[in-house]
Amino acid sequence: MAVIAFANSKGGSGKTTSALLLASELANTTPVTIIDADPRHPISTWAKMPGVPERLTVVTNASEKTILDEIEEAAARDPFVVIDLEGTASRLMSYAISQADLVIIPLKEQQQDALAAIDVIKEIHRDMKAVRREIPYAVLFTQSKVVAKSRTARFIAQQFRDNPRIDAFEVEIFERDAFAALFAVGGTVRSMAAGDVNNIDAALKNVENFTTEVIARLRANRDRQGREVA
Ligand SMILES: Nc1ncnc2c1ncn2[C@@H]1O[C@H](COP(=O)(O)OP(=O)(O)OP(=O)(O)O)[C@@H](O)[C@H]1O
Ligand SMILES: [Mg+2]
Repeated sequence: MAVIAFANSKGGSGKTTSALLLASELANTTPVTIIDADPRHPISTWAKMPGVPERLTVVTNASEKTILDEIEEAAARDPFVVIDLEGTASRLMSYAISQADLVIIPLKEQQQDALAAIDVIKEIHRDMKAVRREIPYAVLFTQSKVVAKSRTARFIAQQFRDNPRIDAFEVEIFERDAFAALFAVGGTVRSMAAGDVNNIDAALKNVENFTTEVIARLRANRDRQGREVA
């Protein structure tokens, strides 16, 4: 069982999109619950459209009072629980982080997103103190330009990658039509027909690589924690 929370108090940093990409791809082979704790409930709206994977359960969060129970129930049922959090720091966010095996902090390569990501990292460290355990986390660059990154984008990404105390995903989630289209047409990248959107193969490869890195990180964290306990 693994609980993966997507958190960044900056709105529009790519939490909902990345969470849905991961949950749908995992659900291709394994039962997954995605908890929709974004107050606009975009994933619950998406789930009303056709093409929701059979192994994916969508739970709409009711309130901060219920989030811990929702996580517990989902984790008792499914090997993976993915949580899409709201775009503001809140008690709900801390509750979810306190239960996470991995917190993914999506950010665009922009100064405001970078500052918000640092705030989330500080919050995760406070939550670690509160629950007295290590909570692994990593930043994930999203909406990256496929061609010609700006100087600012390169600079921000490099600052995170060069910081030995902050873990960053090697994989970035690129800005792709397919990823934006999901919320308009429903279904998954895997279920989209090649003619529907541009470059579907590249989009799918991106999702596969992201999912593979998430699994590798969960495994590595588990191995490391196992060694520390032994
Ligand atoms: N990789 C991507 N490629 C193309 N469009 C994207 C990508 N990621 C996000 N978007 C678009 O950017 C907008 C914001 O993304 P998203 O809703 O995932 O962010 P969020 O962090 O969940 O925002 P909020 O804090 O408001 O919940 C959406 O319109 C989404 O379709
Ligand atoms: Mg969102």
